[in-house]
Amino acid sequence: MNYESPKLIFKNIPSGKIGWCSPSNIALVKYWGKKGLQLPSNPSLSFTLNKSQTETIIDFSPAENNKCNISFFLEGIPNTKFAEKISGFFSRIINIFPFLDQLDIKIYSKNTFPHSAGIASSASGMSALALALCDIENQYFESFSTEKEFFRKASYVARLGSGSACRSIYGGLVNWGKAEGINNSSDYFGHEIRDNINPVFEDFQDSILIIDAGQKKVSSTIGHNLMKTNPFSSGRFIQANKNLQSLLSAVKYGDLEEFVRIVELEALTLHSMMMTSSPYFLLMKPQTISVIEKIWEYRKETNVPVCFTLDAGPNIHMLYPYDYKERVIDFINTELIKYTVNNSVIHDRVGSGPAKIAI
Ligand code: DP6
Repeated sequence: MNYESPKLIFKNIPSGKIGWCSPSNIALVKYWGKKGLQLPSNPSLSFTLNKSQTETIIDFSPAENNKCNISFFLEGIPNTKFAEKISGFFSRIINIFPFLDQLDIKIYSKNTFPHSAGIASSASGMSALALALCDIENQYFESFSTEKEFFRKASYVARLGSGSACRSIYGGLVNWGKAEGINNSSDYFGHEIRDNINPVFEDFQDSILIIDAGQKKVSSTIGHNLMKTNPFSSGRFIQANKNLQSLLSAVKYGDLEEFVRIVELEALTLHSMMMTSSPYFLLMKPQTISVIEKIWEYRKETNVPVCFTLDAGPNIHMLYPYDYKERVIDFINTELIKYTVNNSVIHDRVGSGPAKIAI
């Protein structure tokens, strides 16, 4: 699979603005471990979120010399750290979009969730950027004959920015990584699962409890690399494939008990991989464990099918069907809010994917 296209060079270099808004996603089956050029060691599955989004506008004009000059503004403020990250990303995709070296690029990015919320913005940010780049290509080179081709390339490009970003290109339930029984699944791009979803999973809720809003101690990229030497990694990759199959079946039949079991198993396995890497690290906080225990107690007492998951950090995502929304929010407000920083909870839900920004 290769999107290198040396012919994508402007004859007349344009100026313009293009923007996309793209959501974050929460993995149910986790991507943890990669190989080659951003290819996953196991297939993953996620829900795309609705509210937690990044809006990115690319303002482009002819380059002064033959080298893409990038400036990056986060919430309107120049951010050189991100500009450097994006330069690295652009050097990985210059053969896909050779016209980038003809442009000076200003990127304006802002998140709809508070910057300090500790929510990973790489999936929403990189997917919004990839969509905007594909849209420049679409506008000036008319390369895509179908929407499907457009989004597939955007997902491929987003993956090169951040693995999990390739899933944010699509709404609902999204798979990334070659998996048995999923037609069109691929290691190179995400794939939207549309069929065999029980209605109980439509409008599924995700309340995100912000336990710690600080910077991550260990980046995901470092964590992924440590899987290369983790003695349990081969077993983990086999388990992820099995969990994916079981989860798809739970989603098909509306089996919430099995859904809860696998989602929590995946979250704890992810963190156990961190704890058994060398060097080992720990991203959960004492409050994370307290909230997990409270959720287990509550579920046992009430039979409300609410479960938790974690990404590479201490914050808790509580997943549950729409019908239990009031009860779970009440539980959060009375019992869990005290474990969060400044009462920060984001009540999000499954969303329908990215959208173009009208400029
Ligand atoms: C724990 O996609 O952030 O959230 O590809 O190095 O950018 P890079 O990593 P990233 O890893 C996400 C890991 C995870 C699980 C997941 O989203 O599947």
